[in-house]
Amino acid sequence: MTDENLSSHLAELDLSPSEEIAANANGTEALYAEADADYEAFWARQARERLTWSTDFGTTLDWSEAPFAKWFVGGELNVAYNCVDRHVEAGNGDRVAIHFEGEGGDSRTITYAQLQDDVCRTANALTELGVTKGDRVAVYLPMIPEAIATLLACARLGAPHSVIFGGFSAEALRTRIDDAEAKVVVTADGQWRRGKAAPLKPAVDAALDGGSTSVEKVLVVRRTESEIAWTEGRDIWWHDLVDGQSTEHTPEPMESEHPLFILYTSGTTGKPKGIFHTTAGYLAQAAYTNSVVHDVHPESDVYWCTADIGWVTGHSYIVYGPLANGATQVLYEGTPDTPHQGRWWEIIEKYKVSILYTAPTAIRTFMKWGDDIPAKFDLSSIRVLGSVGEPINPEAWLWYRKNIGGEKAPIVDTWWQTETGGIMISPLPGVTTLEPGSAQRPIPGISAEILDDDGKPFTEADKVGYLVLTKPWPGMLRGIWGDPERYKETYWSRFGEKYYFAGDGAKYDQKGNIWLLGRVDDVMNVSGHRLSTAEIESALVSHPAVAEAAVVGASDETTGQAVVAFAILRSEYVERADEEGEGADLVKELRDHVAKEIGPIAKPRSIMIVAELPKTRSGKIMRRLLKDVAENREVGDVTTLADSSVMNLISQGMKAPS
Ligand code: WT7
Repeated sequence: MTDENLSSHLAELDLSPSEEIAANANGTEALYAEADADYEAFWARQARERLTWSTDFGTTLDWSEAPFAKWFVGGELNVAYNCVDRHVEAGNGDRVAIHFEGEGGDSRTITYAQLQDDVCRTANALTELGVTKGDRVAVYLPMIPEAIATLLACARLGAPHSVIFGGFSAEALRTRIDDAEAKVVVTADGQWRRGKAAPLKPAVDAALDGGSTSVEKVLVVRRTESEIAWTEGRDIWWHDLVDGQSTEHTPEPMESEHPLFILYTSGTTGKPKGIFHTTAGYLAQAAYTNSVVHDVHPESDVYWCTADIGWVTGHSYIVYGPLANGATQVLYEGTPDTPHQGRWWEIIEKYKVSILYTAPTAIRTFMKWGDDIPAKFDLSSIRVLGSVGEPINPEAWLWYRKNIGGEKAPIVDTWWQTETGGIMISPLPGVTTLEPGSAQRPIPGISAEILDDDGKPFTEADKVGYLVLTKPWPGMLRGIWGDPERYKETYWSRFGEKYYFAGDGAKYDQKGNIWLLGRVDDVMNVSGHRLSTAEIESALVSHPAVAEAAVVGASDETTGQAVVAFAILRSEYVERADEEGEGADLVKELRDHVAKEIGPIAKPRSIMIVAELPKTRSGKIMRRLLKDVAENREVGDVTTLADSSVMNLISQGMKAPS
């Protein structure tokens, strides 16, 4: 579609809230007014009404040591009790919690009563392994029900979990295990990916082989039945330890600010940040947003969030939000094209999924595969669609609405971050008139502004600035694990201590909607996953052939951004790279090296071997110019370069046939 066609098509659509949804929506216009009048009282009400407390809280928000927040001070609750036991006690034990669908077609239905047994058994097993309140547990598991049971068992014991995405390498695993000083690792022999068993346990072995570690035990789920190495005394099979445990376990109440989990995310330096979240505020926001934004009605909806549990979306919108609400959800282990490209739509048809939450990169992939694929399935159960991870471009929005949403389901484009814990900016189904491509407006209880370069808020349309959050919120990160200074410096210093700086560019449109414009720092967004240029650069220079490297995120049709690297070789390797064929071999070797160091998601789409990198007189690499090259644009202003001829060489190299 041309831009003109697209805008005239958009102008014809009626995107005002549908009456059908509005009649029964959890979100209402009145919530905005209530939260605006007194946001602390608003959150106190959400926390009291949505959660079951062992001890009620006194102070709603203690911000006296800003930016270190304490929410719901004096209160105590157990997260696992709130996500499982209380639903059973309320008589909903027979309700399905999880419709699990394995990639190979195996499936399991787990009710809330069964989930309670699983969580209790797992909590008892972890206790037997010596895990007590405050100990950290690393989790490196596929998308299987044991992952949910493990997280909830940790929450039950007050042992913060640190989930490491199954696509990360042994090296990445090692740094995260060390940083959190995890006592136990829970993993599986492998996971099913595209019909093949992809190993997991070998990465744990490699991570732990590198010398002394804090890890005492490794609990291993048998999933793929692959051959794996075994360390006697350290490794224990899940089925040997967990299956025989008692299904009785008393949840211990935790203080509101007890750490619930650590989740690592990329920042502007090479070292990933251990973002940590605490108990009550996080759960309150996860439950509230899942209710008003996804509009989950636990008695009638079947909800499906396609994220991996290894990302924050999986934490908040597979594990904590929907389970706190007592929802029924689908959990799918595999890839969307196995055994065929209609797999997701087949699952929606099978379970009558009514709410789907996914990412723009997936939607663009489905667009490429063709409209005829979803058309073969009955998707009439769908009533609400969600999007997360990056801005959803209007073409993808329209495709999603038409082909998956039956031309009528509202799409909630939800902006948030690992740090925010839960959704922050989004339309509400049944309330908001939608604007494709925009996340629109902070949800009730959340306050955001856009600042100019001087840190002044503005409201003019179409002027680009920086998104900031202006009030603390319950689900906010409480810090960076072990590094309070970095927390202040990263989020609360760019525009002074009053503003949380999100790292995203943003603008308003004429109607006052907020449009998110991507990261303004050296962070890329590849398929909705955050990667830092510095982390990939340091992976590249850890290879003996590379003297220096620069990495940029170049726009990519499917993945949003793609990793493009520029590398200067050490002199011993320059000749080798010049020889026929050797250059290509070396580039392949370097790409694989990055995948090994960080994980396959970080593998550069291309690596260009260059003689020099564009630098300012003070030695800073001008990534902006490299991005011009990577996106095939005319190279911008080069006058601040120490040597302005460098860019000519690089652009010529890029244009040369490869
Ligand atoms: C960054 C956070 C939130 C869970 C998944 C990613 C970008 C996320 C949107 C959206 C525009 C978005 C931002 C943000 N982002 N959702 N709806 N519209 N941009 O979590 O890895 O912490 O990444 O993702 O740039 O800062 P994350």
